[in-house]
Amino acid sequence: MCGIVGAIAQRPVAAILLEGLRRLEYRGYDSAGIAVLDPSGQLSRVRTLGKVSRLVEEVAANPLAGTLGIAHTRWATHGEPATHNAHPHVSHDRCAIVHNGIVENHEELRREQIAAGHRFTSETDTEVVVHAIYDELARGASLIDAVRQAATRLRGAYALGVIDSEDPGHLVAARQGSPLVIGVGFGEHFIASDVFALLPVTNRFIFLEEGDIAELTLESVRIWDRDGQAVERPIKTSSVSADATERGEYRHYMLKEIFEQPRAIADTLDGRLAGNRILPESFGNQASELFASIEAVTIVACGTSFHAALVARYWMEAIAGIPCQVEVASEYRYRSHVVAKNALFVTISQSGETADSLAALRQAKASGYQTTLAICNVPESSLVRESDLVFLTHAGPEIGVASTKAFTTQLIALFLLTITLGRFKRLEASDEARLVELLRSVPAKIEEVLALDSSIAALAEQFVDKQHTLFLGRGEQYPIAMEGALKLKEISYIHAEAYPAGELKHGPLALIDEQMPVVAVAPNNALLEKLKSNLEEVRARGGQLYVFADFQVPLDEGEGVTVIRLPETDDLIDPIVFTIPLQLLAYHVAVLKGTDVDQPRNLAKSVTVE
Ligand code: G6P
Repeated sequence: MCGIVGAIAQRPVAAILLEGLRRLEYRGYDSAGIAVLDPSGQLSRVRTLGKVSRLVEEVAANPLAGTLGIAHTRWATHGEPATHNAHPHVSHDRCAIVHNGIVENHEELRREQIAAGHRFTSETDTEVVVHAIYDELARGASLIDAVRQAATRLRGAYALGVIDSEDPGHLVAARQGSPLVIGVGFGEHFIASDVFALLPVTNRFIFLEEGDIAELTLESVRIWDRDGQAVERPIKTSSVSADATERGEYRHYMLKEIFEQPRAIADTLDGRLAGNRILPESFGNQASELFASIEAVTIVACGTSFHAALVARYWMEAIAGIPCQVEVASEYRYRSHVVAKNALFVTISQSGETADSLAALRQAKASGYQTTLAICNVPESSLVRESDLVFLTHAGPEIGVASTKAFTTQLIALFLLTITLGRFKRLEASDEARLVELLRSVPAKIEEVLALDSSIAALAEQFVDKQHTLFLGRGEQYPIAMEGALKLKEISYIHAEAYPAGELKHGPLALIDEQMPVVAVAPNNALLEKLKSNLEEVRARGGQLYVFADFQVPLDEGEGVTVIRLPETDDLIDPIVFTIPLQLLAYHVAVLKGTDVDQPRNLAKSVTVE
């Protein structure tokens, strides 16, 4: 993964680059580095192990002057997190690069380069790239030609920023398989892995396409496509404000984002409803036409987005009457498929850059789906650009690595999709009106659940010293239990697993004793009686039950049973409402344990490598 940033300006760039890195830290944070061309024409490089804040301290102690530079925050793939593996990588003190992606043929190139006399200082796949560029420069190539030539030798994915100490007037960027944007300033230009990194310095962006190479100077940006043809790419103005990525008065981004959910959901519904009807154009101008013949749906996603897809399967079959299959992208992309007739292929992704989801989409496009749809939170992302239809969730930037508001807005999008497709099947206008009414009630219901924050914080104390937790749900609450377990494990490092409650007796009951907390999501629905029997099985074996239930659920507190009451809602929107307390529970357990809530160990928000 990793985040990269670069700048060519008439003012010192170190502070701009470091702020850019801070904003890209969600992409990885095991080490960071910066290189600028100092006024004497030398490359000055600083690299540190750990987070960007360490690099900032280091640069504060040893300031870097220079108006051309590149910087990087890393999530290790090849080579352990260590200072010598941190980027930028340098060849012969002459050129420096930052790289996001994976060079798949790095071993072969490394062998050749060692034989040719290059000395390696890291275990990264990236270092072969800087040596390949150096070789071209040493042969007299210009920087842009050197990068172009070197790129022909690379297999895999990369977004690159490159500088040459003998050419202070140019910054070169290249994109193949990893995201990269150019920020357009006045008499200055920038590159970064996403727009948020550059919002403090510009709101005008050029989005590079696959295979593009760009040459930036103070005054110009020139771009060539994969065939070497000079191309013009449009400049787009972003409406996101730099403040949208600030934490405000909240202790963590995750908490801020949990509390933003009523607004994020209202924003996601805004402009998508006309009276009691959904506007099909919310999915793209041709959606009505393309959706009319859909007879089957496949949804592919990763992580939390995958859990949203699992909920949608229940909705799609129960509400719309359309067969729906769901799969994690990393599995989907590597198996053969039988594609149903008139099938819609849906990808769900907060970032729109997840490598496995993108690869799955590309495979689906080649295998006969009628139409592809992306449900995504980032308008300029690769997934959005490569899909026929798009529904943008309007959650706003999500910074916490553990996804919260992106998930609930994805559920809203999927509910809208279910109704829109259902209209061509069995839903009447009156059904649609009732479902739209339900959707409109969601933000207020979530506000009611958020008011339970302090009691959930108190409950969290009972989980702090636990090693394991089991989450149970039935029906569409099973994916919600999975999401609850994922939240707890990723930020509190407590091992957590989710089971459909009916499966308890087929194995997990063996785990139950007084040390095992069991969290159940139990709205008052058709499966409640079944679920209660499952809970009895836990209670009879001494397990500690924590049940999230609405006020209608006849369930008594007592020895080993804690009940947390939620507002009553309709079964269909319960999955959205019941997600909130599980997010809060995970958050408070993590805070009590003192973990790094927004940037949990070993993880990254946007996984742009396999
Ligand atoms: C990473 C993040 C998760 C996210 C998943 C999928 O694992 O840590 O929070 O759910 O990627 O990301 P996407 O951007 O495709 O939704």
